Amino acid sequence: MTGQGSRWVDAVEGIFSVVPDLATPEQVEASLREILGDASLELFWWDWESERYVDVHGRATELGAAGPGRAVTDVGYASRKVGAIAHDARLLDEPEFVGSFVPTIRIAMERDRLHRDLVRKLDELQASRLRIVTAGDEERRRLERNLHDGAQQRLVITLLTLRRLEEAVAGSSELAPLVASARRELESAIEDLRELARGLHPPLLARRGLAAAVRAASSRSATPVELDLRLPYELPPAVEAAAYYVCAEAVTNTVKHAQASQVWLTIVHENGALTVDVRDDGVGGACIDCDAASTGLGGLVDRVESLGGTLELDSPQGEGTRLVATFPVRAGQPGGSLGYSDA
Ligand SMILES: Nc1ncnc2c1ncn2[C@@H]1O[C@H](COP(=O)(O)OP(=O)(O)OP(=O)(O)O)[C@@H](O)[C@H]1O
Ligand SMILES: [Mg+2]
Repeated sequence: MTGQGSRWVDAVEGIFSVVPDLATPEQVEASLREILGDASLELFWWDWESERYVDVHGRATELGAAGPGRAVTDVGYASRKVGAIAHDARLLDEPEFVGSFVPTIRIAMERDRLHRDLVRKLDELQASRLRIVTAGDEERRRLERNLHDGAQQRLVITLLTLRRLEEAVAGSSELAPLVASARRELESAIEDLRELARGLHPPLLARRGLAAAVRAASSRSATPVELDLRLPYELPPAVEAAAYYVCAEAVTNTVKHAQASQVWLTIVHENGALTVDVRDDGVGGACIDCDAASTGLGGLVDRVESLGGTLELDSPQGEGTRLVATFPVRAGQPGGSLGYSDA
């Protein structure tokens, strides 16, 4: 490094181009060695959590004392540590080093640290949301199996017995209507239970995939649903489940709140994304998390965002409601190559 001012201007400008948001600390250190012409330069970041300096590999380290020909320059504020540079002591002879270079590297290092922290926290948040959603799904699946294999089976066996009894008492004008009424009640209770289990975790989804499960759910809707399904037979199971729950919640909401005459439901897979678009011509005015008792749409936001997707709601008063979920479906994930189910 020469003492010429222009070299320093270049060096200072160089800092921001070598500390791009995602350059590794090692790359930053290597570039600074080059910019400053000091092959022995070492960079240290102050780790707020462990309250120690860490080197470019993230290993806790002591800064060590300055020795002959070697200096350690603090890169921080009086009230807050940011990092430090160990370097050739001759750099201190250049006024620009302390006057321009160090303040600039301080900003760059702090920005870099904040950025890394933010990325890490967002990753942690996404992972924890995914864990919550997955745990919820496992619990629903378990309940569905328990209902199916437990209560539902026993009620079906009781129904068979009741049908035999109905035949046996067919001649009795007193008993026959009583038994017939009990049989009808039991049939409708079994249907209710089946419906409940299906809502908890639709078995069709695992067995026959998203298109079949959405078709079956739509055919049960009290408001007519027009379907346009252009999706691969196979998708990542978590995306399939999330897409299904978006459709189920949107259609249920329309039936419950919208006073609509029609629902249009489209699922398209193109350009590495799966888009679920559900629209109705009802009263509009839907909102997410607007009161404590309404958790349907808020739960969908968690589910969709935990998979890196987005959920958008558009619902002006009097103009119907549109819910659009988009999921990234990367190449290499299962699905996407097996053809289309409803083209
Ligand atoms: N398609 C729609 N048309 C009109 N209003 C809607 C529609 N969807 C939702 N809303 C309104 O937005 C609110 C929030 O919906 P959300 O699904 O979060 O809750 P909910 O359906 O009331 O209850 P939950 O889904 O928790 O059983 C609803 O209470 C309703 O007032
Ligand atoms: Mg709802």
